[in-house]
Amino acid sequence: MSIAVSLPSSDKTEWWCQMLRDLMPDWNIYPIDKVPDPDAITYSVVWRPSTGAMTPFRNLKAIVSLGAGIDHVLADEKLPEDVPIIRTVGTDLTQRMKEYIALHVLRHHRELPQIQANQAAHVWDQIIVPPAPERRVGIMGLGNLGAAAAQMLAQIGFNVVGWSRSPKTITGVTTYAGDASFGTFLDGTEILVCLLPLTDSTLGILNADTFNRLKRGASVINAARGPHLVDRDLIEALSSGQIAAATLDVFHVEPLSKDHPFWGHPRITVTPHVASMIDAPTGSKIVAKNIRTFEETGSVADLADAKRGY
Ligand code: NAP
Ligand code: GLV
Repeated sequence: MSIAVSLPSSDKTEWWCQMLRDLMPDWNIYPIDKVPDPDAITYSVVWRPSTGAMTPFRNLKAIVSLGAGIDHVLADEKLPEDVPIIRTVGTDLTQRMKEYIALHVLRHHRELPQIQANQAAHVWDQIIVPPAPERRVGIMGLGNLGAAAAQMLAQIGFNVVGWSRSPKTITGVTTYAGDASFGTFLDGTEILVCLLPLTDSTLGILNADTFNRLKRGASVINAARGPHLVDRDLIEALSSGQIAAATLDVFHVEPLSKDHPFWGHPRITVTPHVASMIDAPTGSKIVAKNIRTFEETGSVADLADAKRGY
C-alpha cells in the first residue's frame, strides 16, 4: 500500500505527494528518493523518471504516467518489464489542449503573426483571409486529444481532415487511416497540427517530405513531442517559404537550450510545453481513482499499450 512519486523537480514531487496523501489517507506516499522500503512500493507515479528509477521496486503492480504520453516512461532503458502503464487523461487535459489548438489555429488562420509584425513596423495592411470553411486544417492523431480538437475546429467551421492508424468516424471531419493515405491527408492542408504519440513510426514525421506535401505557405503546430519534428527541415522550409509559420510547444531537449535558433526565429512561436499539462489538484484525483480501480479490478480504462508505444 505504498506509492513512489517522481517528477523532475522536488517541489512538484512534494506538491503531488501532498495532493495524493489528502485523497488517499490509507496509503503511504513518498517522493521517490525518500522511499524507506522499496519492496513495499506497488505503484509509481511519474513524469520523466530518471533511468533506473523504478528498478528497486520489485513489487510494482503498475506505473502511472502523469500525462497522456508514455514515451517518457518507455525511454527508461532499465524499465521493469511487463509492468502495466496507466495514462493520466480526462476532460481537463482534453479541454486544455482544445484551448491551445483553437488559439494557435485561429492565430495562423487570421495571420496574426504577420499583423503583429506589421504593427511593429507601423504598417496598415488589411490582410483579408479566406473564411474558415475554405481553410483546410489537418490533425495528425485522432485519439483523445486529436479527435476532440478536430471536432472543435469543425464546429468553428474549418475544413478539417484527420489522420490516424485505424479508421475513425468524427462528425464534420474527413478522416484518413494508415500510412498509405498519409500523402492524401496532407495534400492541400494549410494548417497542420501534430497530436500523435511518439513511437518508432512517428519519430521525425514532421520532415521535409511532409512539409512539401502541404499547400505552399502552410503553418505547422506541434503540440505532441519534440522528436516528431526534424528541426533543420523546419528551418529550411521556413526559409524557402514552403512553411510560413510554426508554433512549437515541445522540443527534442526540454527546457529548450538558451541558444536554440527557434527562440529568436521571427516566424516560430515557442511555448514551453504548456499546451495541456495537468496540474496536481486535478490530476491527483484522476491518479487516485485509477490506482484504486486498478487495485480493486486489476485493470483500468486508461491503460496504455507499451508494445504499441501509446
Ligand atoms: P491517444 O489517445 O493515444 O491517441 C493517439 C492517436 O494517434 C490515435 O488516434 C492513434 O491512432 C494515432 N496514431 C498513433 N500512431 C500512429 C501512426 N503511426 N500513424 C497514424 N496515426 C497514429 O493519445 P492522446 O491522448 O490524444 O495524446 C497524443 C499525444 O499528445 C501524447 O502521446 C503526448 O505525446 C502528446 N501530449 C502533449 C501535451 C502537451 O502539453 N504538449 C499534452 C498531452 C499530450 P489509432 O486511434 O488508430 O490508434
Ligand atoms: C503531456 O505532454 C502529456 O503527455 O500529457
